[in-house]
Amino acid sequence: MTEQAKGCQDKEMTFRIMRYDPDKDAKPYFQQYKIKLQHGMTILDALMHIKETQDPTLSYRKSCRMGICGSCAMQVNGFPRLTCQTQVTEISTDTIEVRPLANYPIIRDLVPDLGDFMARHESILPYIIREDHQEQNNPTGEYSQSPAELEEYLQFAYCIKCGSCLAACPTNATDRKFTGPQALAAAYRYAADSRDGGLAARLDTLDHPNSLFRCHYAGACSEACPKGVDPSLGIQLLKRKLFQKKILGRGQKPAGMAQTPAGIGRREGIPQAPEKTV
Ligand code: SF4
Ligand code: FES
Repeated sequence: MTEQAKGCQDKEMTFRIMRYDPDKDAKPYFQQYKIKLQHGMTILDALMHIKETQDPTLSYRKSCRMGICGSCAMQVNGFPRLTCQTQVTEISTDTIEVRPLANYPIIRDLVPDLGDFMARHESILPYIIREDHQEQNNPTGEYSQSPAELEEYLQFAYCIKCGSCLAACPTNATDRKFTGPQALAAAYRYAADSRDGGLAARLDTLDHPNSLFRCHYAGACSEACPKGVDPSLGIQLLKRKLFQKKILGRGQKPAGMAQTPAGIGRREGIPQAPEKTV
């Protein structure tokens, strides 16, 4: 254990946590809890410790505890963070305030309602669109994609749908019909995928006043993203795709099948895929 960590061990911290039960409370309020800091304790660990030792009624959302599922995002001292990835020692204040993600309705305590967020994501058709249904249903090989083509969209594929970008976005704070940075970046992720042929259909989903051009390029979404996605860049690149398609008439032919190199076959001993069930 480092000297700094030893110094933190057993230090008393105060957590100021937003509470709200819509069945009982007229409005949200704050409740304070004091805990002793343990080495390596994350904000989520602290919430779990409070729930286990002081207040079993405290509600929050979490699953993987390793920065992958995106369910534990909350406002920590006013900034959206994945609480399972945030060490208590990273926060320099003696009192740490934890609220549910901003700009979402609250289900209870620290649990935001992400239903509308997921609906916005779904609205941009977040999947590869192609006409070759026969190949998709009964694949005979792989679609061709070069490393450079992969780089075109890779960072946008790292999104874990934690919702932090919408919590940070000033446009989303004032316009709840705004498609939002997550869904717009996801739209670019598929538009930039060389295997996709659905640009026209996807741009049609964005043909409304609360879409691409409502972004004022504040960049708060990119600052808040815990996975290194740059949604504000995705939005600008999607605008370029829009101009290329609608004004210059440039479409994109989806990639064809990759050639299997000569002499390559299935390795012995690897079982075949099971029969399809649907
Ligand atoms: S873009 Fe980043 S901040 Fe927004 S939902 Fe995806 S992972 Fe979370
Ligand atoms: S619990 Fe899954 S990202 Fe934090």
